[in-house]
Order: sequence, then structure tokens, then C-alpha cells
Amino acid sequence: MALLRAMEGPIVVSGDFVLRGGRVVDPANGIDEVGDVGVSNGVITSTSSLKSPDILDTSGLVVAPGFVDLHVHLRQPGKNDRETIASGTSAAAAGGFTSVLAMPNTSPVADNAGTLEYIRRIADSDGVVNVLTCAAMTKNIEGKEMSSIGGLKRAGVVALSDDGRCVQNHELMRHIMEYSKTFGLPILDHCEDDVLTGDGVAHEGFSSIMLGLRGIPSASEELMVARDIILAEMVEWKVHIQHVSSKNSVRMVRDAQKRGARVTAEATPHHLFLTDELLKSFDSNYKMKPPLMSEDHRVALVEALAEGTISCIATDHAPHTATSKLVEFDYAPFGVVGLETAVPMCLTELYHKGIMPISDIVARFTVGPARVLDLPLGSLSEGRAADITILDLEKKAVVDPDKFLSKSRNTPFAGREVKGGVAATIVNGKMVHGGLTKI
Ligand code: DOR
Ligand code: ZN
Repeated sequence: MALLRAMEGPIVVSGDFVLRGGRVVDPANGIDEVGDVGVSNGVITSTSSLKSPDILDTSGLVVAPGFVDLHVHLRQPGKNDRETIASGTSAAAAGGFTSVLAMPNTSPVADNAGTLEYIRRIADSDGVVNVLTCAAMTKNIEGKEMSSIGGLKRAGVVALSDDGRCVQNHELMRHIMEYSKTFGLPILDHCEDDVLTGDGVAHEGFSSIMLGLRGIPSASEELMVARDIILAEMVEWKVHIQHVSSKNSVRMVRDAQKRGARVTAEATPHHLFLTDELLKSFDSNYKMKPPLMSEDHRVALVEALAEGTISCIATDHAPHTATSKLVEFDYAPFGVVGLETAVPMCLTELYHKGIMPISDIVARFTVGPARVLDLPLGSLSEGRAADITILDLEKKAVVDPDKFLSKSRNTPFAGREVKGGVAATIVNGKMVHGGLTKI
């Protein structure tokens, strides 16, 4: 028996191989049963058509389509001390993600074909997983002037977002939606009203008042969620709400979906599993935007995720250096890393606590995000690229930031005992993380 391991970057498992005897969970195709998955030259293939493939044992494991993270800050170009495309995609592979959507708030901002070409080239040379690009919808993410959306589409971007900031001018947002509809690009929006947020650092509520932290009212997000839904219905285009955090936002998304509006939403593990009560430690690894909310909001998010109103789990992986976070809470930058903890946290909190079945959790990491982007990702259909995430539901670990492949360690989950994790990650038929036993 040989143990195939990706020790030094991507290795070819073999031309042809079969993942044998795993629990195949492929929500896009309605499959949840023990079976085999065949791969030939990087493509999912029927096992019967393979001639003398390697056989890899996946018994006792879950074999799922490659996970897609719609919200990742890879920081390159310009902020390479926090993360690079190489380190961020290594972290993604370790976390079970085979595709990541890179946010554009780099330096320079990814609002032009040249910068996107640069990112594409680095991703092609250094990327361990698939890097999809998202361009800024306004120039320099200033919310003043629309980016050249047609040119960005030609440069290969699959979505638009000003993440980190939010276009405040509703007329401009309307025109951005009209242009993005013309070019078939989904808009992913970080919903925040700048005036209501002001210089707030925490969710406005009992905790912020008790701790003397400047509050951000949940209405800051909710107003922009309402604005986006109204404009999306008017323009008849789709909008995706990034890192939704408020119960009222969730209610508006649910109602809009019932009316047939093309509105989707993602939630992050930190908003699903943490609350602002933790801020009493004044640990800046609990500081992000939108801020951690109170328990009532958190519970509403989990319910909406379970019912499918929230169709995606996204990390908002936002690396920051240790020194930048090692300051008073007020002065620390917003953001936490998430690529290497999302899957273990979701398996621990959602699967093992009986809140969601494994097929629905897999769906939120696969077919949910694939539908937002309308890309052929997130399924194990024959002919698709062999992007496969293999889970070990029983694997126990303690979250240890020192073991992260990300350059940054700013996790709110340090020290957490988790049950369930990633056994192997396969991208285009190459094992880029983990190992399986060859039979
Ligand atoms: O916490 C956050 N950090 N939220 C954002 O929207 C942006 C991100 C970042 O870029 O650091
Ligand atoms: Zn954001």
C-alpha cells in the first residue's frame, strides 16, 4: 500500500484513477450514496471507461465536488506581507477549496485589465487551486465612477464587487446593475451605509454599550440590502449579498426570493458561529466587517442557511499581519482569516450538532456558489474538471494558527476543538492537499 501525498506542491495522482467506496455527496445531481468516482486526465469520467486506473480508497470518507469560496482576499498585488496568491491558494487547498474568487481590494485595485492580467499570470504560475477573478465595480473602489465593465468582462472576470466598501450613490448603483446585466456579470455587494457606520467598530447593542465600543447599527447593512433588492428587481438583474449578518437582512432576502427576485446571499463561519459577546476579551481577532452580531441575529443566519435562503458559505478570508492586529481594538484593521477553518467549523457546528445534513452543507459550498457565478463548477457530473473535496467527518483536531499555510494568523477560532475536516483536495485531477491510500 502506498500513501500518495502532496508534499511538495501539486502532484499528478495518475492519468486515470478511481476514488473507491466513498460516500459520494453531489447535491447538484441529487446524489448521496456510497459509490466510485472516476477521473481521467483531470476530468470526471465514468469508471467503466477507465483502463487500468489507480484505485484510491475513500471508504469511510465523503467524496464531494470541489468546494468554491466566493469571498477570498488573496492580497496580491500590493499587500503581499499579508498573503500572496501562492500562500492564499495553499491555504485554500488545505481548507478543501478547489476554487476561490479573489476580491479586488488589492493595491493597485483590480479595476482594470492590466492588473487583472497580472493576477491571472501569477495565478497561472503560483496558484495551487483555481483562482477566479472579481473586479471592482467602481474605479479604485471609491464609489464615484463606474469601472469599464465591458473591458473587465473581456479580461476574464466572473463577477463585480467593491468589497470592503459599498457604493453609496444609488443612481450609480443602478447604472452599475444595468451594465453588469448587459455583460452578464453578477454583482456581489458588501452592504453598508457609510454614514450609519461612521467610525463604529462593533455591532451596536448590549455588548458595545457595556464595553464602550463605538457601535455600528444593523440598519447600516439592512438599508443597503433593501436598496440592492429594490434596484435588482427594477433592473431585473441579480445581486448577491456578501457576508450577510443581520436577521432583518435575511428576512428581506427571503421575501425577495419568494417574489422571484434574483437575490442570493452568503454567510461566513464567523457570523454563523460567533457573537459579539466575545468582544469582552477585546481580542482584535473578533473584529471584522460586518461586525459579530448578537445571538438573535446569529440564530436567524443559521436558520436561513439550513433552509437555503442563504445558499452559500463563504469565508471572507481577510488576512492581516500580526503587528497590525496587535493594537487596541479600536485601531485594529477589520478582517479575519477563514480558509483553513471553514470546513472543520461547519462540520463541527452544523453536521455534528445535527443542524444540517451533510448533503446540504456540501451544497452551500458547491452548487450554491456555482449558481451565483453561473459557472460549471460544484458538481461531479461526467465531463467536468476533476475538482474534488474529500472529507473525513470524524477527524478530530484543535485549530492551531501556527500550522496555517496562510501567511496570516488572525483567526477567531484559535484553540477550538473541531470534529470533521478535509482528507484530500483534488484540483483538475491533481492532489493538492492531503493523502489517500492506494489499493
Ligand atoms: O472584515 C473585513 N475585511 N471586511 C471586509 O469587507 C473587507 C475585509 C478586508 O479586506 O480586510
Ligand atoms: Zn466585505
